[in-house]
Amino acid sequence: MNMRDNTILITGGGSGIGRGLAEAFHALGNRVIIAGRGEAKLKDTVDSNPGIEFATVDMTDAADVERFAAEICERYPVNVLINNAGIMREENFKQPKLSDAVATIETNLLGPIRLTTMMLPHLQRQGESAIINVTSGLAFVPKPTHPTYCATKAALHSFSISLREQLRETSVRVIELAPPYVQTELNGPEQLTDPRAMPLDDFINESMNILKGSDVDEVLVNNVKPLRFAERDEKFEEIFTYLKQM
Ligand SMILES: NC(=O)c1ccc[n+]([C@@H]2O[C@H](COP(=O)([O-])OP(=O)(O)OC[C@H]3O[C@@H](n4cnc5c(N)ncnc54)[C@H](OP(=O)(O)O)[C@@H]3O)[C@@H](O)[C@H]2O)c1
Repeated sequence: MNMRDNTILITGGGSGIGRGLAEAFHALGNRVIIAGRGEAKLKDTVDSNPGIEFATVDMTDAADVERFAAEICERYPVNVLINNAGIMREENFKQPKLSDAVATIETNLLGPIRLTTMMLPHLQRQGESAIINVTSGLAFVPKPTHPTYCATKAALHSFSISLREQLRETSVRVIELAPPYVQTELNGPEQLTDPRAMPLDDFINESMNILKGSDVDEVLVNNVKPLRFAERDEKFEEIFTYLKQM
């Protein structure tokens, strides 16, 4: 992918992986707009990185995603959409709480599909453009404590393959970025220092290096490859057992 001269919209860009990508693309001279629900996090990122811009959106709210997409398309020549916003909630289906499943599907799957649908005509008008969908290594081997989360990531993986195929003859590339376990606050503050998780800076640097390549369909850092290729390598049961105990 062309790493410069883009206008890049990153959902969930006020923290973790989204913020890391925002700062890395901003440092390369791209125009970057970050979005999320929490204005404080977004402002903090903008204050630390003058030039990054922000807008608020709640990806679970269809009307708000529609308003947001219209405003962004009106204000910015966005040619790269990074669908990164996500939540990860533990669920126990022996005592089910459907609200967690619904929020997870709306944030991680329906939100990206809605935003993609609304922004595609705009992306196509910008010439060379890209949609980057942030999935997870858990799309390929689920962690059974988080059934709906893993299901949304598997679905976004599948959606990305079909979308890539449908857009093959257009100016829009579809790239999947599947992180391994990374030191962010996705699962709470203890994840930030969990030694089993990849340091965020290392993850961002390795991902940016891969993105630089031409014809990249999937951004796979080395740490995620055992999960990504678990079925092919006949390691599914072994990794599933490890994730169960984690
Ligand atoms: N860290 C990992 O180990 C890991 C591994 C695999 C995949 N991922 C994926 O990487 C992506 C980023 O996660 P992260 O690890 O960087 O965690 P994070 O720091 O918690 O980032 C998630 C971001 O999504 C935003 N968000 C959540 N719900 C939203 C909503 N309804 N509307 C708009 N924005 C919303 C949050 O901002 P607000 O709360 O302010 O809205 C936050 O900035 C996620 O898709 C996650 O599934 C992470």
